Amino acid sequence: MTDLSVRLGTLTLRNPFLSASGTFGHGLEMEHFVSPETLGGWVSKTVTLEPRPGNPAPRIHETEAGFLNSIGLENHGVEAYLEKIVPVLKGVDALIITNVGGAAPEDFVTTVERLEDADEVDAYELNLSCPNVQGGKLPYGTDPGMAEDVTRRVKDVTKKPVFSKLSPNVSRIGDMAKAVEAGGADGITAVNTLLGMAVDWRTGEPGLATVQGGYSGVGIKPVALRCAWECARSVDIPVIGCGGISTLDDALEFLVVGCSAVQVGTASFANPSLLAELVEALPAKLAEAGVESIQELIGSLRSSDGAGEVAAS
Ligand SMILES: Cc1cc2nc3c(=O)[nH]c(=O)nc-3n(C[C@H](O)[C@H](O)[C@H](O)COP(=O)(O)O)c2cc1C
Repeated sequence: MTDLSVRLGTLTLRNPFLSASGTFGHGLEMEHFVSPETLGGWVSKTVTLEPRPGNPAPRIHETEAGFLNSIGLENHGVEAYLEKIVPVLKGVDALIITNVGGAAPEDFVTTVERLEDADEVDAYELNLSCPNVQGGKLPYGTDPGMAEDVTRRVKDVTKKPVFSKLSPNVSRIGDMAKAVEAGGADGITAVNTLLGMAVDWRTGEPGLATVQGGYSGVGIKPVALRCAWECARSVDIPVIGCGGISTLDDALEFLVVGCSAVQVGTASFANPSLLAELVEALPAKLAEAGVESIQELIGSLRSSDGAGEVAAS
């Protein structure tokens, strides 16, 4: 039988497939489509210290290839997460990664401190793509020093693995990857959504109430793949690829460029059973290609000698 397990630092995943934050419920709402023990791991929607109402509607806009969202990290806050979601996860045979966000570094730290005693939470993913810090306009997601600082401060208060989730909206994502590695991250998730917008030219109405929002889905795959590759070749910690994955071939491409695991987001909206279908189809796909262990594939990209900083003309 093909060995599908992968390592993410100290964690062993039964297979490389995880759900992407914000696209697969908070706890196990999707278990009717994908049973908990099927996946390598379940990633929660972003949990913040205080409840957040999110942004005004419309906050989802479908495009030709994927969609734009400006949900605005709507959630009930960490106390409600501990009270209502965590008990549901008790005894479930699944690796749970809780995604944490915040408006200031202390928010990340306090939220993780609150979650630390919950045995149901196996690891954290830090959403470093939040737009504001302390009400200002200083994005963690684009400033290596701030990303390193937040990662380090969280690492100081937890014994659990920490994965820093990076934004693709930077010119040198490799520098961001190195920064969070220096901050002690156990791994990197690459990437969150790309900034985008839509407009109806007849009415002048923007597609989203916030005008700009996060673009995700099949259209972003080449950008996400490049970002994941850039991260993987910049650091020694594992990288989880994310962005535009909707088929098994997509997922395996992310492994070849150096990712140890992948997350599927937008594609689950069209087919909520997709993640289970991908896991089921994986052994036959690998056997067909003569691959005995998934490890063989990870980082097997060829002829990267010519890979410079910027390859496009
Ligand atoms: C509706 C929606 C909500 C999202 N919410 C979150 C979130 O709460 N936290 C987060 O880190 N990423 C969030 N994301 C980003 C996804 O986790 C993922 O990084 C991104 O969509 C790219 O992957 P995809 O193309 O497979 O969707 C959200 C994406 C979508 C489409």
